[in-house]
Order: sequence, then C-alpha cells, then structure tokens
Amino acid sequence: MSRLNGFVLAVRTDLPEKTGVACRRSYASGMTGTSYSYRPIGIVRTPYAKRIDAPHQATVVAGTETGSPAEATLELDASLPESVLRDLDGFARIWLIFAFHLSEGWVPLVQPPRGPKAKRGVLATRSPHRPNAIGLSAVELVAIEGRTLHLRGVDLLDGTPVLDLKPYVPYADAFPGSHAGWIDAVDASTGAHSAPGPRRPRNPSTEQDAYDRLGYRNLIAWPERFRREAPLLQRVLALSPSRQVLDLGCGSGEHTRFLKSLGFEATGVDASPAQLEAARAADPEGRYLQVGLTELEGAILAPQGAGICLGNTLPHLCEEANLHAFFAGLAACLLPGAPLLLQLLNYDRVLDRSERTLPLLVRPGEAEGESTVFLRLMTHLGGGRLSFTPATLRYRPGCAVPLELMAAQEVPLRGWCRAEVEAALRVAGFQISEVLGTVTGEAWSALSSDLVVVAMRNRPS
Ligand SMILES: C[S@@+](CC[C@H](N)C(=O)[O-])C[C@H]1O[C@@H](n2cnc3c(N)ncnc32)[C@H](O)[C@@H]1O
Repeated sequence: MSRLNGFVLAVRTDLPEKTGVACRRSYASGMTGTSYSYRPIGIVRTPYAKRIDAPHQATVVAGTETGSPAEATLELDASLPESVLRDLDGFARIWLIFAFHLSEGWVPLVQPPRGPKAKRGVLATRSPHRPNAIGLSAVELVAIEGRTLHLRGVDLLDGTPVLDLKPYVPYADAFPGSHAGWIDAVDASTGAHSAPGPRRPRNPSTEQDAYDRLGYRNLIAWPERFRREAPLLQRVLALSPSRQVLDLGCGSGEHTRFLKSLGFEATGVDASPAQLEAARAADPEGRYLQVGLTELEGAILAPQGAGICLGNTLPHLCEEANLHAFFAGLAACLLPGAPLLLQLLNYDRVLDRSERTLPLLVRPGEAEGESTVFLRLMTHLGGGRLSFTPATLRYRPGCAVPLELMAAQEVPLRGWCRAEVEAALRVAGFQISEVLGTVTGEAWSALSSDLVVVAMRNRPS
C-alpha cells in the first residue's frame, strides 16, 4: 500500500519470497505481543521505477550507467504541519527511514549483489528482504521549498513511503574508521565502494509495467474459467492445420500451458516482463516471448496453426493503426485456414451504457482468513477510449485496517466494438466464421457479456 497518503501504513512482510526459496509466512504474523503501524510522513518521487534501475547504495554511483546521484523530492503528507520542517534547512544530509513497500517477504540469508556469491545473514546486509521491511538511507538535502524537500543521491524507488526523517549529525553518526566486516573483505578484493546498478533511470509514468504488482495469476479462478472455455477452445483448435499455436497476450501463461496439455506446441506472447516472469516460474520449460502484439512479424518465425487472444487483451491496443498492425502481423504468421479465437468484453454494451465497473472478484488471500479483492473501475474518455483501473485489495475482516490497497494501476484501453473488430480482421485477410456473446456459446447481442469471434486466415484464392 504505497500511495495511500494519509492512511495507516502497515509495513508488509508477509508475501511469499519471490526468489523461489519456499513460500514463507510473515515475520509479523507469528507475533503475539504488540504490533506497530506507521503512517508515512511523505512519499518520495525518484527516477527509479524498478529495483534493477536503482543503485544499491544512495551515494555509490561510480561505475554505474548514469554515474551521477539521482535527484528526488519528498512531499510532506498533507496531515502534517509545515512547521515540522522548521530548522531542518541547515543540514547537508538527512536520514530517511522508509518502508521497502515492494519487498515480498523476508529470508534469513541473502546473497548481496557485491562480492563473491555467498549467503550472508540478512541482518548483516541492507537487503530489503528483512523481517521488518524497513530501509535507511543518508541522502543529501539540497533545498526545502514549502512542503517539498529536494534530495540528491537516493536509492529509493519511486513511490516509496517515508516513515520518518532525521538530521544527519556527523559528530554522532559518522565513524569513518570503523570495521565493516565482510564488506571490508569485499572492498579489499573489488575496490572500495564498487556497487552494481543502476541501469538507465526510467520514467516511471511511461515505462511502468501495468501488470507488475497486480498478481494477475492469483486473481482468476482458473479451473472454473477453463471449465467454461475448454469446449470452445477445443472445437476451434481442432481446425488448426498444425500443432503450433500462439497464445497472444498470454499473461501469466495459463492458456499456454492448457494448450500444451492438449498436445499443442504453444508459444505465449506478451509484452509484460512481470507476466512472463510468472509464466516462466510456473513452467520453466514453456516457450514465452516478450513481444508486443504489433511486432509479431519477424518475432514468430515458424508458421502457426492457430492463435488465441483471450481475456480482454485486444483493448490494450488503443490505436486503430495498432489493431490493424496486430491483425496484419498475425495473418503473416498463420498458415492459410488457421483459426483465430478472440475474446474481449462486449464494448457495444460497455460504451453504450457508459459502464464504470466490472464485477468484483473475491479470491482466497495469502493467509488464512484473508481474501484478495479484485476491483476494476473504468472511466470513459470519449471515442471508445477508457482509463481502466484494476486494483487489488487485501480484505482482513476483524483487523484494525480490514481493507488495504495492495496495488492499483491505470491502464489505457480502447473499447473495440463488434463492427470494428470484424472490419479490421477482414482487411487483414481473415474471414469471420462465428460471433458469440460468451465463451460458453451463447449468441451475441448488444447486451451480451463478451464479444467472442472465431475467424479463419484466408486461403489463397
Ligand atoms: C488482461 S490480460 C489477459 C491475459 C490472458 N490472455 C487471459 O486471458 O487471462 C492482458 C495481457 O495482454 C498483455 N498485453 C497488453 N498489451 C500488449 C501488447 N501490446 N503486446 C503484448 N501483450 C500485451 C498484458 O501484458 C497482459 O498480460
């Protein structure tokens, strides 16, 4: 819950560890005594959207791609009076105490990025995977402008909640001659203060992976969904002239694996690194390509016998030119006579009625007694364009904060209506063989829940 200015921040330590060492429970959840909640005093804005972009220490940037300390701002939470900053402006540095808000659980041993491949006790490192995911950085205080602190030399990700800040006081805080244990040994072999990362700082607003934090895989009741979809999928794929099939916008790869289970050589294609990471984690042998839907030609070399594009992927292509580029590139990858199965929401209905929400999904949560709520909001921007906001919330009835926002994203979508989809398919060299209103085979009407199209790649005449 990173951007809830003014809400209580419960420091999260209870998600499974991403790096594969068995899934573990929260450090905090095993506790019987008092627990502590903190409310951020502000959120930092930095150029670092992802961990891989940020330096491993705030001040150490030599040898990194940018080679200069990052500039950042910290905006004081609206609930705090500006007077809390009085007399801070004379300090050259401040300590930031912050929540590693994206940390996904803790581990007793970690392998630091510096030095030989050795596991160290997590408390002998500054790793985010700590029992309490709290970080500490001494950063340069460049200026204070009203409620905004201008900082330099930060290693924090954009959106990091700051729990506290304190002046850095050299006579009390600096002990330059102190032994630094295993770090002294690493410095002796690699040179003092060498540090990996960052790569190029990214612009968080343009390069954020919309699926990064949603946990898409866990939001869908896959067995039920497959029960509904399987008959249609099998009927369409039976028409495939070869065993090679494409799952277009494969997300976390469930359909790709389903197609494999039917005996097809399936390739999952998606643009989202986070989705593909989840897909590969579930099936390390699977074939997944990080390719945009408009870049299929050239990326898919073997001619394919069928394509599926399910789960409202098509509206992610917001421009008409991209819709055409996708269908044209796909046509070039498919064998003549190859079927294509498309499924998206019925935007004839959504746009006509200016619908603002999709049904709420409630899924089992990560711990007992918890649920994950998947909320989907839409804002209509005109011309079929929508701002779609999927959000996940943790629901813990009986807790002090029973509902917490875990992740929310804004995704631009374009609601393609039936006539637009059919026309674009025809232009690209497909003929429409069936249009349905649900994956279970009901007829399409202007009020159907979905638009399901079965099209065939034209055969040469
Ligand atoms: C709503 S998910 C659907 C996933 C899956 N097909 C399903 O049915 O559950 C949409 C997927 O499309 C992917 N996507 C969106 N735009 C894309 C593009 N231009 N190229 C490739 N993949 C894209 C997203 O990363 C996401 O994984």
